Amino acid sequence: MTDKYYLKQEDASDNGIELTVRKPIQGPPAIDVTKLYRDQGLFTYDPGFMSTASCESNITYIDGEAGILEYRGYPIEQLAAEADYVEVAYLLLYGELPNSTQLQEFDEIITHHTMLNENLKDFFGGFHYDAHPMAIMVGVVGSLSAFYHDSLDINNPRHREISAHRLIAKMPTIAAASYKHNVSEPIIYPSNDLSYCANLLQMMFATPCESYQPHPIAVQAMNLLFILHADHEQNASTSTVRLAGSSQANPFACIAAGIASLWGPAHGGANEAVLNMLTEIGDVSNIDHYIDKAKDKKDSFRLMGFGHRVYKNFDPRANILREMSKKVLEELADSNNPTFELALRLEEIALKDDYFLERKLYPNVDFYSGIIYRALNIPNNMFTVMFAIARTVGWVSHWMEMMSDPKQRIGRPRQVYMGPSRRDFIPLKNRS
Ligand code: CMC
Repeated sequence: MTDKYYLKQEDASDNGIELTVRKPIQGPPAIDVTKLYRDQGLFTYDPGFMSTASCESNITYIDGEAGILEYRGYPIEQLAAEADYVEVAYLLLYGELPNSTQLQEFDEIITHHTMLNENLKDFFGGFHYDAHPMAIMVGVVGSLSAFYHDSLDINNPRHREISAHRLIAKMPTIAAASYKHNVSEPIIYPSNDLSYCANLLQMMFATPCESYQPHPIAVQAMNLLFILHADHEQNASTSTVRLAGSSQANPFACIAAGIASLWGPAHGGANEAVLNMLTEIGDVSNIDHYIDKAKDKKDSFRLMGFGHRVYKNFDPRANILREMSKKVLEELADSNNPTFELALRLEEIALKDDYFLERKLYPNVDFYSGIIYRALNIPNNMFTVMFAIARTVGWVSHWMEMMSDPKQRIGRPRQVYMGPSRRDFIPLKNRS
């Protein structure tokens, strides 16, 4: 459905410029400015994409004011309560919940793609012993295109699907191997009789000398975290994947680009930054000092895990994780865990402070995810890697959607140039 919008200059006598308005199924309408430059010689200016829809998508819907998040129409609360991560992965990738046969087939496909080409293992040894696992992820995932040539024809839908399956399946194996490199232990192979999340824990914590039985609550918590992190419409890393893919780059390169974008502390790196921040604060008595720092515009310190570009009342994922963090700490760690106590006190103080209230800064998903990962014995530098595993299905779903869209073309933003006007070259000898 479309409507018309008229862009009119204050002193213009005519009706102004007629623009088409695109009406979504849900959410605010969008003014279509694609022909604005061609017809009127005008650009739109929107750094940070504050008011810009970059594409049409059928995958995920967010209402930031109402705290709504839906995957393919299903509310996140229902998926979190009822579904398995692999089931949600199928939903995001194919658009519908699988029936039991479809789920079994999909699960088998993912399970049988978890192994890595044996030569890929040599890559890990090339990294410095204390390399950040996200650095290893960017490199190794990018290198997959050098190993899986048989699924690289991006114009072939079947190739695209195989690459998507490979990425979803191999991410936990690569992630666990990055961790093993970091702790100087041998890489553990995937085990086909385990679920997606149990297998990841097994590959991280088993050794050739000792098998590892993941605790059921650890598997349940990880399944929940992965569902909540699986997609979030056009966030920075997904937009990076789409932009990289718009140039026809191969899917492994595109996902490596997404991982790089996710790494930043304003995005997926926030979960690691939250735990580092809590460690730095150290004690409840220091909270006021850090709140003052966060409010001081001359200080670059921000309260990590607070604020969100889209959610302005609450992050529905944070509400779900707050409950799970209590459960995990009760079952697996000390429920009087000082880090959790500190986090709850910080949350309480910030939620009463005018600075945070006026700016609608509430705890986001990553305020709690790090606390849970810590209780599962996942080291801080692996938190963002966990996020990357979960988000891979979101990235590949968006990449697949974009690649099958006949309107797809290379993404090429323009700019408002503010540099020097044309000037003549000055030979070196004449420069002061
Ligand atoms: N601590 C202190 N002040 C903040 C914070 C914070 N965490 N977040 C925003 N502000 C202030 C900011 O200084 C600005 O104040 P003013 O209007 O006086 O200039 C106002 O709030 C608006 O902030 P913004 O930076 O313009 O908002 P944004 O939409 O561009 O940024 C954000 C959103 C998530 C990057 C930002 O809130 C932030 O840096 N938060 C901390 C990092 C974090 O937790 N990121 C995880 C996001 S959720 C997971 C994910 O999506 O990956």
